[in-house]
Parts: sequence; structure tokens; C-alpha cells
Amino acid sequence: MPETPFTAEHAGLDPARLPVHVAIIMDGNGRWASARGKNRLLGHDQGYRTLKDIVYACDDLGIRYLTVYGFSSENWRRSQEEVGGLMTLMLRAMQTEIEELIQNRVRVRVSGRMSDLPADLREEFADAMRRTADFTGLTFNLAINYGGRGEVVDAVQALARKVLAGELAPEEIDEAAVAAHLYAPDIPDPDLLIRTAGELRLSNFLLWQTAYSEIYVTPTCWPDFDRAHLIAALADYQKRIRKFGAVVE
Ligand code: IPE
Ligand code: IPE
Ligand code: MG
Repeated sequence: MPETPFTAEHAGLDPARLPVHVAIIMDGNGRWASARGKNRLLGHDQGYRTLKDIVYACDDLGIRYLTVYGFSSENWRRSQEEVGGLMTLMLRAMQTEIEELIQNRVRVRVSGRMSDLPADLREEFADAMRRTADFTGLTFNLAINYGGRGEVVDAVQALARKVLAGELAPEEIDEAAVAAHLYAPDIPDPDLLIRTAGELRLSNFLLWQTAYSEIYVTPTCWPDFDRAHLIAALADYQKRIRKFGAVVE
């Protein structure tokens, strides 16, 4: 039997009302592993498999932007073993996946303080961004060593430097100016924010950009999240009435 194509229509979604930008807090890898009596790093390995599937699922569905929280600026507080394991996993994953990402014309972006990452990982990310910069398919934005407060601080510093250099007047600093100095100013705000593993918090993710994002939390841990879970989140999103402060009848 021919495989059913994975499209919005086949998934019962309205293709005209898909979110342009989906952001995901990929949480629960550790709990997934612990529940199976395994090392937390095994959970991260499984999480990588999930991520690969979800990237191409979003691409298939015609979602334009996917941002995933891969490593927060607070995740350095974890054991050396776990932090080191995550850095190694990210490096190997990017080395393994880059050719397939290129074949699929996925544009790779990385958001976060790159300077604090190991040099080999930083270079791998820079190389992936360079090689995919001109692609117009899915934009896959990886938030690594990312913190929402740190991002706003970095933007404020960049603006302050411009004021000091006489390029900008303080009164010219408006919301658009702040947004233009964030890590990925060309990416629109997320329409839908998904968090796996049930926690009802943002954990310093995209604090500025999620002002009006629709939030969807599932108890499913990230390693178990699959295309059906993604469809469920998108279907739920399509039932929401977005108001942006206005009265919508
Ligand atoms: C998310 O899973 C992945 C990262 C933070 C890198 P966790 O590792 O936070 O998993 P839990 O929350 O401990 O289950
Ligand atoms: C957020 O998850 C970071 C990532 C998913 C990369 P955490 O597991 O770090 O968040 P908290 O500590 O539960 O808030
Ligand atoms: Mg967690």
C-alpha cells in the first residue's frame, strides 16, 4: 500500500491556518531515561532521534520556522558528565545531519551565546549556518546556550553602543529597535509554543518573542513525542482565538 503523504490536509489540519513559527521546549529527556533505569544521556540520545523526525515533519507540513530549546544558559548547572555528553551529542548530531539538512534545503540557525561553547561545536554550527544560509525551506533555529534574559541584555548592550557612537538617539529605542537587536531578528515571533514533559513554565525561553504565543503543554516526554503529538498540538492551535488584546467576537 502506498504510504500516505504527510501533509497538513492528510493530517486533518487547515493548511491556511498553520502556525508560521513553532517553538518547542524539548523537556523530559532525563525523566524518560530515569523511568527506564538508564543514564540521562540515553534520554538525550533518544531526544535527538525525536528532533530529527520533528524537523522533517515540520518541513513536510510547510511550517516556515521551527525553534527548539536545546541547551539553556542555566543548563551549565548540571553535572560535568551531562554537560559534556550534551556538547558531544550536539557536535556529532550536526556532523551527521548536515548533508541531509542541505539536501532538504533546510536553513540552519543557532541562537545563543556562541562564544561560551567548545570551539569545535562553535565552528560546526558556524559552518552549518554558512552552508545553509541561502536556503528558503524550513528555517531550523537551534537555541543553544540560550537564555531569554541574556538575549535582551545583549540587545540592550548593542543599542547602548549605538547610542554611545552617536548612531541612535535614546528616544529612537522602541519595540522594533529592541526586536531588531535580538539573536534572530528576521524570524517572526512564535505563533505556537510547545512544551513537553508537563512543566508549566518558560524556563527563560524566548521571553520577548512569546508575548502573544499560544502555549501548548503535553505530559509526553520529548523522547516519546512523535508526529501524532505534533499534529495534536497543531490541531489544538487551530482551535484557538488569537486576540492580541483586542475584542474578537
Ligand atoms: C531536556 O530534558 C533537555 C535539556 C535540558 C538539555 P531534561 O534533561 O531537562 O529532562 P528532565 O527535565 O530532567 O526530565
Ligand atoms: C529547559 O528545560 C531547557 C531545555 C529544554 C533545553 P529545563 O529542564 O532546563 O528547565 P527547568 O530547569 O525544568 O525549568
Ligand atoms: Mg528538564
